[in-house]
Order: sequence, then C-alpha cells, then structure tokens
Amino acid sequence: MTEIDPDRTLASLVEETPACARAFESLGLDYCCDGDRTLATACDQADLAVDEVRARLRETRDREADADYDWTDLADLADHVVETHHDYLREELPALEDLVAKVARVHGENHPELRELEAEFADLAGEMREHIEEEETELFPVVERLDRGESLGPDEAARLREAIRTFEDDHAATADRLDRIAELTDDYAVPGDACASYRSMLERLERLERDTHMHVHKENNVLFPRAAERLPADSAEA
Ligand SMILES: [Fe+2]
Ligand SMILES: [Fe+2]
Repeated sequence: MTEIDPDRTLASLVEETPACARAFESLGLDYCCDGDRTLATACDQADLAVDEVRARLRETRDREADADYDWTDLADLADHVVETHHDYLREELPALEDLVAKVARVHGENHPELRELEAEFADLAGEMREHIEEEETELFPVVERLDRGESLGPDEAARLREAIRTFEDDHAATADRLDRIAELTDDYAVPGDACASYRSMLERLERLERDTHMHVHKENNVLFPRAAERLPADSAEA
C-alpha cells in the first residue's frame, strides 16, 4: 500500500477517499474552506504529528478503497449536491430551528447560552436557505450547460466567476457561524440536565456541521474549480 504524501492537500485526500473527512473532523482539521493546505502544513498548524495522521489516513483509505464517486461529470455532481445536501437542508433547517427555539425556551434559564444559540441558528438557517436557492438558480444551470459542452461569452463567464466568489464567501461565513454554535454548545456536549429534545438538538446540530463540511468541500474544492476550468480565459486577469 502506498504511503500518504504529506504534500497533498486535505481537499485532494477527501476527494479521493471521502471517508478521510471523518478522520479530519475528529482531528479538528478544516478540509473544506481551508482544504487547499497541504497535510504537512495543516498538521503543523494544529500541532499534530504528521506521521501519526498519515498512518491513520492510510488505514482509512485502505479500508474504503472501494468508495467510488465519479465527480468528473459536473452535472451529476450538481444533482448529487442538491439531492444529498440541499434537500436535507430544506427539510432539516426549519425543523431544527423550531427545536432550537423550544429547547431555548425550556432550558434558557439554566443555560443562558441557548439564547445566543437560538439567534445564531436563526441567522444561519436564513442564510443557508437563501444560499442554496441562489446556487440552484444562478450556478447549477450554468454548470449543466458547461457540462453539455456549451461555451459562455465573456460577460457570462465573468458573472459566473463573481457568483463563485460570493458563494465561497458565504461558505466561510457559514463556517464561522457553525464554529460559534460548536463553541456555544461546548462541542455538542450533553449537559447533565438535558432532556430528550435537548439531546436530539445537539445530535442534529452536530450532524448539520458534518454534513455542511462535506457539502462545502464538494463545492469549493471540486465543483467550483472544475466549472471555472471550463470557462474562457479571464481577459481581466490575462
Ligand atoms: Fe450547496
Ligand atoms: Fe454552497
């Protein structure tokens, strides 16, 4: 079995073996918004022993050698993102928003941080809903056209590049909100006085965070750069 090259980026490791995402999550390494760092740099910044991390990733990769995602077809990837991540968000965000509000109402007195959590989550949910709608109306239809081999004119290409930059900024803002939510819940730790709703809220918030990391990885590190590669050269940058 080949060794994991420490000069590979986190994003390329997850792209090759999606299960590496779980290892990165548990080590606290951001592979989506900061996925273009090499493994060596990321380990260095997080004070982790790179050889131990490489051994762990090698095990993960060898175990999951059969996980195959064909992400060369951009329209398929866009469909997959909608079905796997956007549809999940459309269902989960309103339900979880109600649950967070309910838990804050019942437990807010003993856990005052729940009030900030409720406000933070409401902002996050609103922003994410808007963001996925915009991706589906402004970006994915153009990706499908590119995938069919259509070429875009310079104005349309410039608009798409700008849209991609905005979506990447949104992703960074979402990551900040999710970090704040993890902080407010002490990394989803279940307090001694938590009821079943409180527990369920924490589990679902954690799932949302993990799902969003994978979702953003697929967009920032695979879909967006591959769509950008198919655009005509940017005359402004030439
Ligand atoms: Fe998305
Ligand atoms: Fe997105």
